[in-house]
Amino acid sequence: MTISAVPTNTPPALAVRNLSKTFTLHTQGGVRIEAFNNLNLEAHYGKCLVLHGPSGAGKSTLLRSMYANYKPCSGSIVVQHGKEVVDIATATPREILAIRRDTIGYVSQFLRVIPRVSTLDIVAERCLSMGEDKALAEEKAVALLRRLRIPERLWRIAPATFSGGEQQRVNIARGFIRSYPVLLLDEPTASLDATNRQTVIELIQEAKANGCAVVGIFHDEAVRHAVADTLFQVQSGTTNAA
Ligand SMILES: Nc1ncnc2c1ncn2[C@@H]1O[C@H](COP(=O)(O)OP(=O)(O)O)[C@@H](O)[C@H]1O
Ligand SMILES: [Mg+2]
Repeated sequence: MTISAVPTNTPPALAVRNLSKTFTLHTQGGVRIEAFNNLNLEAHYGKCLVLHGPSGAGKSTLLRSMYANYKPCSGSIVVQHGKEVVDIATATPREILAIRRDTIGYVSQFLRVIPRVSTLDIVAERCLSMGEDKALAEEKAVALLRRLRIPERLWRIAPATFSGGEQQRVNIARGFIRSYPVLLLDEPTASLDATNRQTVIELIQEAKANGCAVVGIFHDEAVRHAVADTLFQVQSGTTNAA
């Protein structure tokens, strides 16, 4: 395992260049919180890049920036999107939608529960949005829900009332139902028991074997050790009054 994300000869799936992000809290006296400054890293196909660092270091902010949930203040996030190379930091909303559909998958830390949408539909959705046959999408969703030990009695109900660990597994099933060229994972094993954690490790290893470039945050050292090819240390930000 290498300790930093040094450039290699093969073109990266995703490259972060001179990336900086500072939040300005306009409603709280304009306090500025620097999440990270001048960050550089690369994610490669078939490899897992682990973002490491203490709580509050800016790991989730970096992952959200890669998924265009946050707009960086400066720098670029260049992704190989089909035959094109697109900078996520300056991409149009239409390009972002296309990148999210075809190129980058994201498993957020917490499931965004949609009232009245069943677990099965939430998991199958990303296949259906690709125009995949409904029966086939459901078959894949069922296979993943079984693999992640979500009891069958829960499949037809919305996951709003599920336990934290159950919601997290639904979120994981949703993220892994399709194979993306790039997959972003924000602490996917944080509320899981050892057996389910092992299943997630296997899903990540299978994704890597399929050529996926995985970028992940894992607070659990055993998981990190099992999946990481490269560790990238995210430095703590600083807080400055404006
Ligand atoms: N939407 C936001 N608005 C303001 N500050 C934020 C926001 N998101 C994150 N931060 C701040 O940025 C810093 C990094 O947070 P985060 O990326 O969640 O850290 P980590 O994932 O490494 O624990 C923290 O100080 C946090 O309070
Ligand atoms: Mg985080």
